Amino acid sequence: MNGRISTLLVALLFGLVMAGVAFANNGPATIVLEAGKKGNVTFEHHKHQEKIQCGECHHGPGHSAYKEGMEIQKCEACHHKGSSEVPKKLQKPMNAFHKNCKDCHKEHKADGAPTKCSGCHKK
Ligand code: HEC
Ligand code: HEC
Ligand code: HEC
Ligand code: HEC
Repeated sequence: MNGRISTLLVALLFGLVMAGVAFANNGPATIVLEAGKKGNVTFEHHKHQEKIQCGECHHGPGHSAYKEGMEIQKCEACHHKGSSEVPKKLQKPMNAFHKNCKDCHKEHKADGAPTKCSGCHKK
């Protein structure tokens, strides 16, 4: 290959890698999870990310372990009625959320993690 072209290609690749680092997608800082009449849950995503590994909450198809850089989908993409890969009990988004959020909060009650309905659901 022509030397100048390969130098250019290397520079281009390097640029792409750096852009990937700069734009690592951590998702929104705050996410409002809608829960109808019960009252929406304002979830401080960024605050949770400071102390908790992404893989505590995110996983891939077939419940595969979280890997850095993998595509992160909304929970409902898989946790929905009729899903072929998710057992019935976890198809309802509420059940997937409650299991994920509440199990950890029960363990971290002493650190101020809310366990009461009104600690998460605000009307
Ligand atoms: C304590 C749980 C938790 C942790 C830790 C966490 N997230 Fe999330 N993240 C969520 C929830 C819940 C959502 C909203 C999903 C939904 O709307 O269905 C979300 C949404 C996202 C989204 C947006 C997805 C979309 O399509 O709307 C991205 C991207 C993301 N997270 C990346 C990350 C990365 C990267 C990390 C680690 C640095 C991380 N998250 C850590 C719970 C968490
Ligand atoms: C790409 C598909 C997919 C996405 C996206 C997904 N899940 Fe799952 N999830 C699964 C599958 C498959 C299982 C495995 C169920 C089984 O066979 O036990 C599972 C299991 C679970 C479980 C029970 C096992 C455990 O880890 O405690 C919880 C809780 C859970 N998911 C919560 C979530 C939450 C919260 C989100 C969004 C932040 C999410 N899931 C996003 C596919 C997905
Ligand atoms: C692996 C553990 C863990 C998981 C999973 C987790 N949390 Fe938390 N959460 C905590 C801890 C610890 C605190 C309290 C300490 C703090 O505020 O940093 C907390 C605090 C909160 C608070 C109080 C206000 C705040 O941000 O400080 C809300 C609301 C909350 N979490 C919502 C959620 C929701 C909704 C989910 C599920 C989508 C979730 N959490 C999943 C550990 C967790
Ligand atoms: C740690 C935070 C947390 C606690 C504590 C909590 N929830 Fe939730 N709840 C959520 C999240 C997150 C959702 C999912 C919202 C979504 O689907 O986007 C949810 C969804 C729901 C829904 C479904 C609403 C709908 O229209 O789909 C109901 C009902 C509900 N919760 C009732 C309760 C009750 C009752 C309690 C107390 C016994 C409780 N929750 C405690 C976080 C919490």
